Amino acid sequence: MKRLMASVCLAAALFAAPAHAQATKELVVYCSVLNEWCTLMVQAFEKKTGVKVTMTQKGSGETVTQLRAEAANPRADIFYGGVGDQHMEAAEAGVTVEYKSPMLAELHPWARRQAEQSGFKSVGIYAGALGIIWNTEALAKKKLAEPKCWSDLVKSEYKDEIQMSNPSSSGTAYVALATLIQVMGEDKAFDYLKKLHANINQYTRSGPAPARNAARGETTMGVNFLHDGVAEAAGGFPIKVAAPCEGTGYEIGSMSIVKGGKNPENARLWYDWALTAEAQNLAKGAKSFQTPSNMKASAPEQMPKMESMKLIDYDFQKYGSGAERKRVITRWEKDVGSLPK
Ligand code: F6P
Repeated sequence: MKRLMASVCLAAALFAAPAHAQATKELVVYCSVLNEWCTLMVQAFEKKTGVKVTMTQKGSGETVTQLRAEAANPRADIFYGGVGDQHMEAAEAGVTVEYKSPMLAELHPWARRQAEQSGFKSVGIYAGALGIIWNTEALAKKKLAEPKCWSDLVKSEYKDEIQMSNPSSSGTAYVALATLIQVMGEDKAFDYLKKLHANINQYTRSGPAPARNAARGETTMGVNFLHDGVAEAAGGFPIKVAAPCEGTGYEIGSMSIVKGGKNPENARLWYDWALTAEAQNLAKGAKSFQTPSNMKASAPEQMPKMESMKLIDYDFQKYGSGAERKRVITRWEKDVGSLPK
């Protein structure tokens, strides 16, 4: 009871900030979760605070590229959502600032670790595992077996049946490359990716797109975060998901405050609020079923259970480095992306 009262008081203190504490009434958010979730967050925040939010939705890779390009004259205040590796990269590049939110104490250790590893320039807001998704009707119609392992995806019967996003724009695809390297070793992972290329019908710009396209029958399978497949299933589409048998990687979806943003007080207001259970509980209303980082947020029933999967010990420090991302993506473009179809 005491703890409950303490957190009620903390939340009241955080959000009952006097009007003069807000230097402006605006906030610019670059959002890298599903557009539906971004919109719900913006509406709820505007209602709660009276701050007018301008939001742009883009993949996490694209957002980091944009933040770097705008560093001399930043347009955004908040980078919300998207894979943690890209927030680590933004921290290292000096385009985001340190902030220790009073809400950190309410977060799971994995979310606090993201804060610590980035020098408190970022924080975990959700987690989600990578895997395989497929359209059950399309698979049955083509008499194809359900994929269970990474090794299944390179079988010749899946030729042109799979979509994956492009690692230059999508954080999901970057996590996929980093995962395969950690599961197989780098040279074997690139041999695998070359074989997989023969089965890819399109590299999409955004990470969730393969799941969305599979739901609509435009591809049979996709390499996706599992929650993006579950979102389509919750929308009534015939989609199933699997965590690959060899082991898989995961993301710590994160949030950061942009260095030199025009509305720093409102950025901190958003940041503290986005870490509350109340804000994180909005996600399921937008069919976003990641694991929330606030320990008091309710876990949606459809949420993929990460504890039942074979997860690798993903090296966030290594794969969150800008130099490593550049090296891995350059090798992918040279060895895989440029191969003829
Ligand atoms: O919102 C869905 C989601 O899969 C997030 O969990 C993830 O952080 C983000 O999309 C990645 O998007 P992209 O691959 O386009 O950067």
